[in-house]
Amino acid sequence: MSGDAMLIQEVATRDGFQIEPVFVETADKIALIDALSAAGFSRIEVSSFVSPKAVPALRDAAEVFAGITRRPGTVYVALVPNPKGAERALAAKVDEINLVASVSETHNRANMGMTPAASIEGFGKIMEAVKGSGVSTNATVATAFGCPFEGDQPADKVMAQVERYLALGVENVTLADTTGMANPRQVEALVARALTLVPASTLTLHFHNTRGLGLANVLAAYKVGARRFDAALGGLGGCPFAPGATGNICTEDLANMAEEMGIATGLDLEALIGLSRDLPRLVGHDVPGQVAKAGRPCDLHPIPQAA
Ligand code: COA
Ligand code: ZN
Repeated sequence: MSGDAMLIQEVATRDGFQIEPVFVETADKIALIDALSAAGFSRIEVSSFVSPKAVPALRDAAEVFAGITRRPGTVYVALVPNPKGAERALAAKVDEINLVASVSETHNRANMGMTPAASIEGFGKIMEAVKGSGVSTNATVATAFGCPFEGDQPADKVMAQVERYLALGVENVTLADTTGMANPRQVEALVARALTLVPASTLTLHFHNTRGLGLANVLAAYKVGARRFDAALGGLGGCPFAPGATGNICTEDLANMAEEMGIATGLDLEALIGLSRDLPRLVGHDVPGQVAKAGRPCDLHPIPQAA
């Protein structure tokens, strides 16, 4: 990846499907992940090994991992909340485990049923279990840009959580704007600080477009040196345990922006648009993505004929 290139990690089958009231059939999930692999993603967050009572939509995580075709060069990631989830993820032969804890105590209790400290204590046990397995690790600071219950989260507290992750030996770190509360000025400051602890090659930004600032936040982060971003096909997504949560930034909208700006992503944008247009069949409703509706800027219209 060249210095200017942007790495987009696809999260639709995890962050996207977790909030859908319908259960997307396992075979449809597998087919979509295989198609996303073919579209060029180097990283796909496939599913979550969480309690099936908490997130019934992802209860088939093990079957999905067993059914997908592993494309060489693609890292298949699973979200893991606790040691039991890590055990299930290792049995399913995931490539990477994404550990998630919120900086906000209130959101972590709502989402994970425990304090952030208890989550992170569990991560310590998971890091021991993962050692020597060849499975890589990512850890996410959720609600890093604001909590829907508590509001602003102090940057020092966010950085302290990043440092705790690094001390545990976690290789990759994500800062997540769980309910789209971030603004570009805040993003510039927090990401610049995070980049003093975590290199751009292992720092991911996870934005939601809840208030329409998703791509503006991407550009703010990119400007200060961030290069890795989560996004969901069609702009699906949202945390079921955060009131008012809505979609991630939309993959094909982000890929289109990058392409128009001459920033390489390695993705097949036409293929992404085709896959996005098929999402309503899977989830039963329209999806927020805009480029799949409008077409690309190069998709010109016929000149109106004079009457
Ligand atoms: N996978 C599957 N089952 C799990 C599990 C996991 N990772 N962790 C716990 N369980 C099961 C336990 O075995 C137990 O089952 P039982 O009732 O049949 O005995 C039950 O869940 C309760 O276990 P407990 O440890 O008390 O967990 P909890 O009910 O306090 O839930 C979490 C804690 C973390 C498992 C749950 O809150 C969760 O899955 N949260 C994830 C939320 C999420 O995905 N949010 C969106 C992404 S950020
Ligand atoms: Zn999210």
